[in-house]
Amino acid sequence: MTKLDILVSGQVSQAERAAFLDVFGKRIAEEPAESVRYAACWGPEPGLLAKLPSLEVIFSLGAGVDHLLRDPDLPDVPIVRFVDPDLTGRMVEYVVLQCLMHLRRQRDYDDSQKARRWEPRAMPTASEMTVGILGFGNLGQACGKALQAVGFQVRGLNRSKRHVLGFETFGSGQMAAFLEGSDMLVNLMPYTPQTDGMLNTHLIDGLRRDGPLIAPVLINAGRGGSQDEDDIVTALQEGRLSGVSLDVFRTEPLPEHSPLWGAPGAIITPHVAAVTSPKAMARYVATQLDRLAVGQRLENVVDRDLGY
Ligand code: GLV
Repeated sequence: MTKLDILVSGQVSQAERAAFLDVFGKRIAEEPAESVRYAACWGPEPGLLAKLPSLEVIFSLGAGVDHLLRDPDLPDVPIVRFVDPDLTGRMVEYVVLQCLMHLRRQRDYDDSQKARRWEPRAMPTASEMTVGILGFGNLGQACGKALQAVGFQVRGLNRSKRHVLGFETFGSGQMAAFLEGSDMLVNLMPYTPQTDGMLNTHLIDGLRRDGPLIAPVLINAGRGGSQDEDDIVTALQEGRLSGVSLDVFRTEPLPEHSPLWGAPGAIITPHVAAVTSPKAMARYVATQLDRLAVGQRLENVVDRDLGY
């Protein structure tokens, strides 16, 4: 009999389960078992993975791994992040769309349309604008290339100041210089103790003020824990931000009473920027297991000290 060696666990949809069954068939364990060697999870119940004595690898069913690292009993085995063209492509769509929504003042035109008013407005062009991308790894660079193709100027900041060909690149010690040349800021950083609450008044007021927009724009498709939501609401109300696009929140679902829903210039989406196709996830895990089977190394292994 085939060993039940793969457990799919946590907040996993029917479609995700079905995709894993399709790819792995009888290898899928329905519940924690001694034979489980691989766990593919999103937000598993804390302590659950510690109950798997044969566990060898944990696969995150998403780009972020904060949902795993918050488990104090997380077993000390490699954690593999999900890095895949499907997820990257979706994030690129979201980021380009949001930058254009603000550049072209689409929300203002939506209001005009509702009121049946013909109201042309001044709009800068993409080449006059610099988009700063916080978190300039796989996802950030793919977004950067797509934004450049539309005409935006793009700069990126990553922790290690890895130079990326074709972009102005900054390291984490150069945050002030990075911000002061950014008209729009896109956050794609993972959630770690270092990024907790970093999208706050101090950061917002460091963005470029004399650019072609009335005030800068903030776009967050990283993690909600990185944003100070009170500071963002106040900046929108006071006109220190002309708009925000937020896909992630400190509390999800975003509570009905949150002032963010109705804040001026806010575009709110329910953590859907890069919802990955279940088939792509199952195929990715299969590819990694194939690599292991022929003695190759796993890809995209998380550095637990860095938190991503
Ligand atoms: C989604 O938020 C992810 O981490 O993939």
